[in-house]
Amino acid sequence: MYDQNLKKFNIGIFDSGVGGLSVWREIIKIMPSNNYFYVSDSAYCPYGPRPQSEIIDRARVITKFLIGNGVDIIVVACNTATAAAIKALREEFSIPFIGMEPAVKPAALNSKTGVIGVLATKGTLSGRLYNQTLKTYANGVEVIEKEGKGLVALVEEGKLTGVETDNLLRKYINPMMEKGADHIVLGCTHYPFLLEAIKQITGESVKIIDPAPAVAKHLYDVLEHMQGKSLDYEPLKPTEITMFYTTGNIETLMGMARRIMPGIEDKNFNAADF
Ligand code: DGL
Repeated sequence: MYDQNLKKFNIGIFDSGVGGLSVWREIIKIMPSNNYFYVSDSAYCPYGPRPQSEIIDRARVITKFLIGNGVDIIVVACNTATAAAIKALREEFSIPFIGMEPAVKPAALNSKTGVIGVLATKGTLSGRLYNQTLKTYANGVEVIEKEGKGLVALVEEGKLTGVETDNLLRKYINPMMEKGADHIVLGCTHYPFLLEAIKQITGESVKIIDPAPAVAKHLYDVLEHMQGKSLDYEPLKPTEITMFYTTGNIETLMGMARRIMPGIEDKNFNAADF
């Protein structure tokens, strides 16, 4: 029997755009019954090339908005914003923050060829978190890093397959394949939406790692700890429980959210003016 006395959490999730929906989809798979608030900061997308101070400013504005909506915890569903801003957010606000971890560890540990690829934004690849993770887990492994310039824009435009997407992906992925990479880490939350296109290039022999399920599991563990007992929720209809906000184009957000979960009503989508 489901536990009727569980507290329902209000969970904030944000990204520079629709990419964080790849994390949201994993979270609602394992915790369908909380209240979710998703912010897409599309007016400022992409974050990748922006200076750190600007990303911190955006993360702060979004966090204040989410806290104003009563969230108990925030998932920074963006590798770039995690790299740039999570430390500042934790210093300034008292609620917990969960960030994205580049999944270098499972890739390096499981690689048979000793070569792995990492596809991420410039901000993530130059960030401290990523470089520390490399030092800790990728010793003795050759890591081919590629900045996925232009990929975020393609995902925002909904161009998840097609010639343009394929050509750009080949530019980044072919050099990884040529060096013998057997794992490719997706270090940007937009990229899991390109999985089909990526697999057409790599075939099945290369393992593509999306860190989102691990982040969702981490959130689950943190909430279980906050709850003080296991999260045995009665599943609700997830279409009803997420409110979406965007600083940019509302149709873009609707389109991608409904690809994941058809049937979310128009009233769940809101324009944000911060
Ligand atoms: N989804 C963001 C990330 O995970 C996209 C980066 C960007 O906006 O450049 O890094």
